[in-house]
Amino acid sequence: MSGVNQIRQTFLDYFDKNGHEVVASSPLVPRNDPTLMFTNAGMVQFKNVFTGVERRPYSRAVTSQKCVRAGGKHNDLDNVGYTARHHTFFEMLGNFSFGDYFKDRAIELAWNLVTREFGLPEDRLLVTVFAEDDEASGLWRRIAGLPESRILRIPTSDNFWQMGDTGPCGPCSEIFYDHGEHIPGGPPGSPDQDGDRFIEIWNLVFMQFDQLAPGERVQLPRPSIDTGMGLERIAAVLQGTHDNYQIDLFRALIHAIEDLTGVRADGQASHRVIADHLRASSFLVADGVLPSNEGRGYVLRRIMRRAMRHAQLLGAREPLMYRLVPSLVREMGQAYPELIRAEPLITETLKLEETRFRKTLERGLSILDDSSAQLSAGDQLPGDVAFTLYDTYGFPLDLTQDALKARGVSVDVEGFNAAMELQREKARAAWAGSGEAATEAVWYSLRERLGATEFLGYETENAEGVVLALVRNGQEVEALEEGETGIAILNQTPFYAESGGQVGDSGNMTGEGTKVRVTDTEKKLGDLFAHQVVVESGRLRTGQSLELAVDHARRSAIRANHSATHLLHEALRQVLGDHVAQKGSLVAPDRLRFDFSHPKPLSETEAAEVEDIANRVLLENEPVVTKLMAVDAAIESGARALFGEKYGDEVRVVSMGRGSGNRPFSVELCGGTHVQRTGDIGLIRLVSESAVASGVRRIEAMTGDTARHHLTSESRHLLNLAGLLKTPVEEASDRLSALIEEKRRLERDLQDARRKLAMGGGSGDAGGVKDVSGIKLMARAVSGVEMRDLKSLADDGKKRLGSGVVAIVGVAEDGKAGIVVGVTDDLTNRVDAVSLVRAGAEVLGGKGGGGRRDMAQAGGPNGAQAEAALAAVEAALTAA
Ligand code: ALA
Repeated sequence: MSGVNQIRQTFLDYFDKNGHEVVASSPLVPRNDPTLMFTNAGMVQFKNVFTGVERRPYSRAVTSQKCVRAGGKHNDLDNVGYTARHHTFFEMLGNFSFGDYFKDRAIELAWNLVTREFGLPEDRLLVTVFAEDDEASGLWRRIAGLPESRILRIPTSDNFWQMGDTGPCGPCSEIFYDHGEHIPGGPPGSPDQDGDRFIEIWNLVFMQFDQLAPGERVQLPRPSIDTGMGLERIAAVLQGTHDNYQIDLFRALIHAIEDLTGVRADGQASHRVIADHLRASSFLVADGVLPSNEGRGYVLRRIMRRAMRHAQLLGAREPLMYRLVPSLVREMGQAYPELIRAEPLITETLKLEETRFRKTLERGLSILDDSSAQLSAGDQLPGDVAFTLYDTYGFPLDLTQDALKARGVSVDVEGFNAAMELQREKARAAWAGSGEAATEAVWYSLRERLGATEFLGYETENAEGVVLALVRNGQEVEALEEGETGIAILNQTPFYAESGGQVGDSGNMTGEGTKVRVTDTEKKLGDLFAHQVVVESGRLRTGQSLELAVDHARRSAIRANHSATHLLHEALRQVLGDHVAQKGSLVAPDRLRFDFSHPKPLSETEAAEVEDIANRVLLENEPVVTKLMAVDAAIESGARALFGEKYGDEVRVVSMGRGSGNRPFSVELCGGTHVQRTGDIGLIRLVSESAVASGVRRIEAMTGDTARHHLTSESRHLLNLAGLLKTPVEEASDRLSALIEEKRRLERDLQDARRKLAMGGGSGDAGGVKDVSGIKLMARAVSGVEMRDLKSLADDGKKRLGSGVVAIVGVAEDGKAGIVVGVTDDLTNRVDAVSLVRAGAEVLGGKGGGGRRDMAQAGGPNGAQAEAALAAVEAALTAA
């Protein structure tokens, strides 16, 4: 009897042998479909290949695709546990032809696989075709030799397959297995077709159309094939059971649940619910979905909590789900390596969710018991009770419904919705009272109407999204015309919105003839992503579905800078001490800035050490690990919280590098985007250190290519410099210091020489000294002497004269002049330097002049009048 893993492999190998490309399963969060919550069929990743929009290097493919059907069009959540074949997570085996073969070959391949490779007895098989599809029915007769009685024509939508409200679709033909008369149930199309006797094992879709909108269907460029075979179902058939939960894979999981709870399964719903939901939860977490209160994260939370309630029903006192992860990884890790990679994240996430939920679960269940004690089959639980359970105890509505289902009690859903609406109104009233309301009114109403934007950017830089609203000049509009700017809100986005210091993403949105440039992305009210856009061509309308592409190079650089910030933060703390706390940061594509508390500048050695430590961790090239944790637990575990950031109940915790012991080098609470491994940062280079405020320092750094360019340009400059200095680079700074010292000495010598020259050369030379009315007058006009030196020249002159008056006019390069007059102390009672200097200054075109009787100075614009000014001083002295 074949195990699940062998059956999957047999399927892939068979189509491989028959010329099909074996393609890996795509993630559960569809990248190429904005309307789809989760990948729910094998064809999802090929949607655009069918329509001809996308080309691949093959025209036949085979996959084993991870699927989730919970939330959205195909939603099986509520049935899981109570039936033999419903799952939230399952694997769909499928073969595809993109305009290559069509119905006949598809039927032949399918028939040969089930009858020869899988060895199913032909007389146990029957098929259905779409009522009008004579061609298919003829092919089944011819190829499979099936009698008319085992080719059933079904006129309903059961035999017309659609992915969703839009997308590729076509009539289909299904293969059924008959478990035999001893099992209750009727053939397809009969009133009791839902019994367990006739089981659909394979759906062959003859893709012919593309549903563009309701009622608007066009032909695909080329008819194609899409098939889907639930792996769990075929495994059940091949393993001789009609119950999917009896196949080897589920038996292993259910055994693990029995072992851990000590409760035998015996067909109980709880074991099945837990086993199924464990798979859905683990695969969703592995594909980047984390529990939250919005969108996909909320569906995940509902699945997790539903399982957790069943764990509690089985009497588990401690969190159970996370302890089942190793069994799941053992069963499925080989086929899906992402499960192995994400095992720690899955474990932590399940443990956290179950620990938190358990805090309120028992209390909530006892309220539920009390309020439903009097109810019997056919009654309804009041909506406001269900709402309290939802709002206060974290019971999703379907969990409450599930808890009452066994007793035939339902929930007053209208009452529940009314209670929810009442609470919204209260919140609205609270907003209206807040000061922000007036300016930001448009965002409040959008947030309320549209809910949070789902951020896909941790996992991908490309995705499709639907435009939900457009805002221009603070007003909602239906469209933005070519050339206009505005803000676009989408249902989901890979664009990171500015927060935690990291700048918003930019990039493009394209589709349906519209080309839009996203210049920045911001968050409004915490979780509404506002894309600043400019319409480059076409017209941007609400309702449009667009390809969103983040500017990859820019985002990569931002990622590197953000991760580097974490490494520098920890390196600074190690070098400077525990007082280092983050005070702010900016993470841009070209640089990063990090402000931190520290009382004094970093020394050169400290800065070098910080840079060394950060680069050493970078080179270890360990993976960067992100986990979701409760805030308190995260902070307790030593994670550093970001300055000024508001945290929800749960936070992302980013760890990097190897630290001492078993601890990572850096652990921070952070919602930003990061590199996968520290080596992706490339290089970290500190480029500046400065003060921001008292006790707060700022470093700026560069990473990767920017850092490399910075360094190469610096070293080029250095080489030029060394070339000019004619020395090797290592000696350049010594050489330059010597040159600077020599320059200073030369300047001093030059100054001395000028002064000597100005005062008439060598000592003892009394040339140019006149006797004016018995007083010795030394008068000089000089140039090339600094104005501030004129006084010391006058002092020199006085010393040389012993007794007398010195008058010096200094003419500067710009033609202006300064004048200084000095009088020796023995003459100050007869002669006043101030009045002499004024006489000279007047000739120089200046006014005033100041000083004391022994030394005064002034200036004027007419340096050309230097000699005349000296003559005026002499005349004034004569008159004195
Ligand atoms: N896409 C088809 C299905 O999901 C094969 O059933």
